[in-house]
Amino acid sequence: ETGRRIFAGETTFLKGVVAMDGLPPDDRVEICFAGRSNVGKSSLINALTGRKGLARASNTPGRTQEINFFTLADLYLVDLPGYGFANAPVAVVETWQRLMKSYLSGRANLRRAFLLVDARHGIKPVDDDIMALLDRAAVPFQTVLTKVDKVKEKDRARVLAQVRDGLSKHPAAYPELVLTSSEKGWGIPDLRAII
Ligand code: GTP
Ligand code: MG
Repeated sequence: ETGRRIFAGETTFLKGVVAMDGLPPDDRVEICFAGRSNVGKSSLINALTGRKGLARASNTPGRTQEINFFTLADLYLVDLPGYGFANAPVAVVETWQRLMKSYLSGRANLRRAFLLVDARHGIKPVDDDIMALLDRAAVPFQTVLTKVDKVKEKDRARVLAQVRDGLSKHPAAYPELVLTSSEKGWGIPDLRAII
């Protein structure tokens, strides 16, 4: 119910940030969406807020190259650039990934990170590295499986087991997973309620 009330309000784009000194003041609670390139971070923000073109999504890994801030009620929602493979020059990718990691390890008002994992692939070594970074920075993170619509029902249990096992060694991880499909709207009300 709380989730429904908060998300009934309008989400607005505040700014895109390319360097740590461009971050807005850390005077309100913030949550962010992190994950491999193309995992569905921007699509999830659009699904949560019910605004299709708010965060730009595309089939090209490396679409989001800035830290994008959105305001919703008294929260900041933050869409991060992805990590792992991206369709952009190496030097550019390194710049935004360094920024993304600095943000994840040094943002005082970051209350929770949502760590998106593609339900078809489970936790990859690059995800594990980011989870370790969040452990070190003491940023609580919650894993969100994305694109569940693309996984056959008979394969879901195996992925869930792999993810649960992978999370068990991360002290900053919430044990509860959220299963979502931005395409089908699955899990979106649950995630709103959590936020
Ligand atoms: P970067 O900004 O490049 O890091 O990617 P991102 O994590 O923001 O991913 P984005 O939201 O741009 O989505 C990548 C692609 O996956 C797009 O083609 C989306 O339409 C697709 N996609 C996202 N979520 C889902 C989903 O739940 N189901 C399906 N089938 N496709 C999805
Ligand atoms: Mg994106």
